[in-house]
Amino acid sequence: MKVYITRPILEAAAKELRENNIEVIIGPEGGSDYSELTNQVKECDGMISMLSDKIDQELLSQSSHLKVISNYAVGFDNIDVEFASRKNIKIGNTPGVLTEATAELALALLMSVQRQVKASEKYIQNNQWKTWHPTDLLGHNLGSRKIGIVGMGRIGFHFAKMCYHAFGSEIYYAHTRENEQANQDLKAKKLTLEELFKTCDIVSLHCPFNDSTNGMVNLDLLKQTPKDFILINTARGAVVKTDDLLQALNENIIWGAGLDVTEPEPLDPKHELYQHDRCIILPHLGSATEEARNAMALRAAQNIIAGLKGEPLPFAVN
Ligand code: DGY
Repeated sequence: MKVYITRPILEAAAKELRENNIEVIIGPEGGSDYSELTNQVKECDGMISMLSDKIDQELLSQSSHLKVISNYAVGFDNIDVEFASRKNIKIGNTPGVLTEATAELALALLMSVQRQVKASEKYIQNNQWKTWHPTDLLGHNLGSRKIGIVGMGRIGFHFAKMCYHAFGSEIYYAHTRENEQANQDLKAKKLTLEELFKTCDIVSLHCPFNDSTNGMVNLDLLKQTPKDFILINTARGAVVKTDDLLQALNENIIWGAGLDVTEPEPLDPKHELYQHDRCIILPHLGSATEEARNAMALRAAQNIIAGLKGEPLPFAVN
C-alpha cells in the first residue's frame, strides 16, 4: 500500500505508516500544486492532505481510487466531504490534540492586541521612547472585559476557560446549542450572534467554516460592537469579510484585531491591514506547537492505517 503526504510534516506520521508496512511518498517542501497532487496520488491508496490543499470534485473524480484521505488539521473545509462520500472515499481529521495550542494562540493574540504590543514596539523603533509616559499606549485589563466566543466547541471552551479562571472574565457565547459544561463551569451565557457582538468587548471566533459562517462577521455586525472592541480570529479567514474589517479599523469602529487566519491566505504582505498598529496578523499558526503537530501527525497516520484496512477511521469526518 502507498500513501502520499502532500508536503513534509513531523516524522511521527511517516514512521507510524512505515511501521505498518505502508510505503510513504512525501511531497515537496513548498507543498504540492494541484496537478502534481493529482499525478502523485494516481499510484497511491491514501493521502495525508494539508488544509492548504484544495480537495475538490475534480480532484476527487480523478482520484476516486483513493480509499482514504486524512487531513492534517481539525478543520476540513478544504475538502468536498459530501462528494468524497459519494465516491466512497473516507475522510479523517485530527481533532482534540490542537485544542490547547490554538486556544493559547488566541489568548496570545488577544493580550498582544489589547496591551498594544505591536504599537509599543514601533514606538521604540520610531524613537518616541523618551521617558516613562503616564498616558501613552494604554490598554485594558482582561478581567474587566466581557468575552464572547463564537463556536463553543473544544477550542472555544478552552479559550473561555483560561479567560474565566485566569482573569475572572465574564463569558458569553454563540453556538448552535447550549453548552451545559460552559454554563455550569464558567457561568457562561448563550446569546445570539448579534447579541454577542452588541454585548461583548472582545469576540473570539472558534467556529468551523461552512456556508453559514462564510462572511458571517461583516460591517453591520462590527458596527454594533461596544467601544474599544477587539476581534480575534483563529478559526478560518473567510468567516470575516476582510474589506469590512479593514473599514471597521480605518474608521475606528473597532479598536483592534488579532488574526491567525486571513482571507485570502496568505494575505499579500502589502495589504493595508498590516499597517494598523492594533491589528496583529500571524501566518496560521494555531496548531504550531511541537506537541500538537506531533500528535496531529500520529492521528493523521492512524486514520490512514484504519482506512487502508477497510476499518472505520478513529477520527472520521464522513
Ligand atoms: C486546523 O487544524 O484546522 C487548524 O487551523 C490548524 O492550525
